[in-house]
Amino acid sequence: MQNVPQTKREAPNILVTGTPGVGKSTLCQRLSELTGLQWLEISKIAKENDCLEEYDQVYQCPVLDEDKLMDGLEETMCRGGNIVDYHSCEFFPERWFDVVFVLRADNTTLYDRLVSRGYAGKKLEDNVDCEIFQTILEEAVASYKEDIIHQLYSRTPEELQDNVNRICLWLQQWFQDNQT
Ligand SMILES: Nc1ncnc2c1ncn2[C@@H]1O[C@H](COP(=O)(O)OP(=O)(O)O)[C@@H](O)[C@H]1O
Ligand SMILES: [Mg+2]
Repeated sequence: MQNVPQTKREAPNILVTGTPGVGKSTLCQRLSELTGLQWLEISKIAKENDCLEEYDQVYQCPVLDEDKLMDGLEETMCRGGNIVDYHSCEFFPERWFDVVFVLRADNTTLYDRLVSRGYAGKKLEDNVDCEIFQTILEEAVASYKEDIIHQLYSRTPEELQDNVNRICLWLQQWFQDNQT
């Protein structure tokens, strides 16, 4: 990364990542309502801003125009106060995030959630494998400093509430540490 001095953010940027179906959007929506931080659901933003390229027939999902998306988000991310929600994390600039939460679920829970979402065949299998092989956790570890990465299980409503509480505490601490 270039050694440019960064202007200080007024509020932190949080990344919430994990396999599709682990509960990212559910958590981010709750957090956004509670904290007033802006929830950026990347799949939706990409669609709305024409950042999707051709459809990948094998993986049955659209291919993201990452550069266009990153350019469009740069200013918002520099201001801070965002919760970024996406099922991949390696292409975001490392400097964007103050903390990274990788959500996890067990295989059967995830399988059931994806089936209710209408996933089947290879797409279902690939996503469950992605969780079994901890692909997104490894991606996070390869992309961000290990001490800002936290793994959180989100299998039950109780765990969801615990995660919300934990992230709110983290946020309070950030504001304490970054008082001007
Ligand atoms: N902690 C949880 N306990 C029980 N159900 C959950 C939990 N988190 C999410 N869900 C449910 O799992 C499904 C997938 O959640 P969602 O937030 O859409 O996942 P993602 O955004 O990661 O794809 C939804 O039906 C949601 O209600
Ligand atoms: Mg989602």
